[in-house]
Amino acid sequence: MVTKILSSSLLFVFVTFLCIVVVSGQFQKFSKLDLPPGAMGPESAAFRGLIITEGPFTTIKDGRILKWQGPNVGFVDFAYTTPTRTKQFCDGSTDPEKGPICGWPLALSFQLTTGLLYIADAFHGLLVVGPNGGLATQLAGGFKFLVGLDVDLLTGNIYFSDASLTYDIRNITQPGFKPDSTGRFLRYNPFTRQVSVLLSGLLGGGGPAVSKDGTFVLVPELVAGRISKYWLVGPKANKAEVLLNTVGNPNKIKQAEKIGEFWVAVSIGFQPPRALITPQGLRINSNGDVLQTVSFATQYFNKTVSLVQEHDGKLYVGSRGTSFIGVYSN
Ligand SMILES: *[C@@H]1O[C@H](CO)[C@@H](O)[C@H](O)[C@H]1NC(C)=O
Ligand SMILES: *[C@@H]1O[C@H](CO)[C@@H](O)[C@H](O)[C@H]1NC(C)=O
Repeated sequence: MVTKILSSSLLFVFVTFLCIVVVSGQFQKFSKLDLPPGAMGPESAAFRGLIITEGPFTTIKDGRILKWQGPNVGFVDFAYTTPTRTKQFCDGSTDPEKGPICGWPLALSFQLTTGLLYIADAFHGLLVVGPNGGLATQLAGGFKFLVGLDVDLLTGNIYFSDASLTYDIRNITQPGFKPDSTGRFLRYNPFTRQVSVLLSGLLGGGGPAVSKDGTFVLVPELVAGRISKYWLVGPKANKAEVLLNTVGNPNKIKQAEKIGEFWVAVSIGFQPPRALITPQGLRINSNGDVLQTVSFATQYFNKTVSLVQEHDGKLYVGSRGTSFIGVYSN
């Protein structure tokens, strides 16, 4: 009897606790970090530092990498990816045809211990820039369409993805465009400077995410609507298995703040194109269970989302179609 009362009151406490966690996790408040005038398409959001953090840093359509300096200053120029870029020709441009000259970075990841910032540029490959920013150095080139990357903080390896061997970022908005299965998932070893192709034949790119313990990488295929788990260690090392088929197109995956969990930016109805795009954030675990879905449809109506980056309990949302980074909080 006593145990029964005890266990039911424990259950009550547990259920109450669960409710609080769920209610406090709905991300109902919204605010914006506005880009400088004319700037568009902040597709990434990365923070620098382990204890005191700076940022977010973001990549925009006109080729710049910007750093958020707080509400009084806003975003300021931090880095760029090609020596052919001039501020006069490129700043504020949204013309994809200028990408080869101005650069078009799409993804960022910090090596937190060194402060080096790794960059995936749609036209200019894999690059790195030091803590003071400026012109980034190309580490590997010759790619058609790099879209995502993540640094493995334990080994220093960079995992990155190439959307296609045949088309580039300009082609996807051209009439008659058809995606193909020539995407790849790759690794750059900063010590040997070697690039290895880990997976090929992928249908659409997206941003891979290394697990915190370094045992696997989650690899999205945007067009296929699929996330695979690529094992780095253990009996299945160097093999991939499908973890989750998503409703909609998964773009970047990022580690959530809770160990073993991830946030995925998903746009439903993007590819193949439908009359309405529904943008969402999915929180998943390493078994592929969807733990939470947050809708961004009110603030990102009919727009795709590229990234959901959790930081200090808030969600920073990146999109090709906005002039701000959205911040959802509780
Ligand atoms: C992609 O677009 C570029 C620039 O508009 C064009 O030169 C190229 O032929 C296109 N490639 C494909 C595969 O459509
Ligand atoms: C959503 O955007 C697409 C493409 O820009 C457009 O064709 C469509 O009409 C839009 N849908 C709504 C409901 O506004």
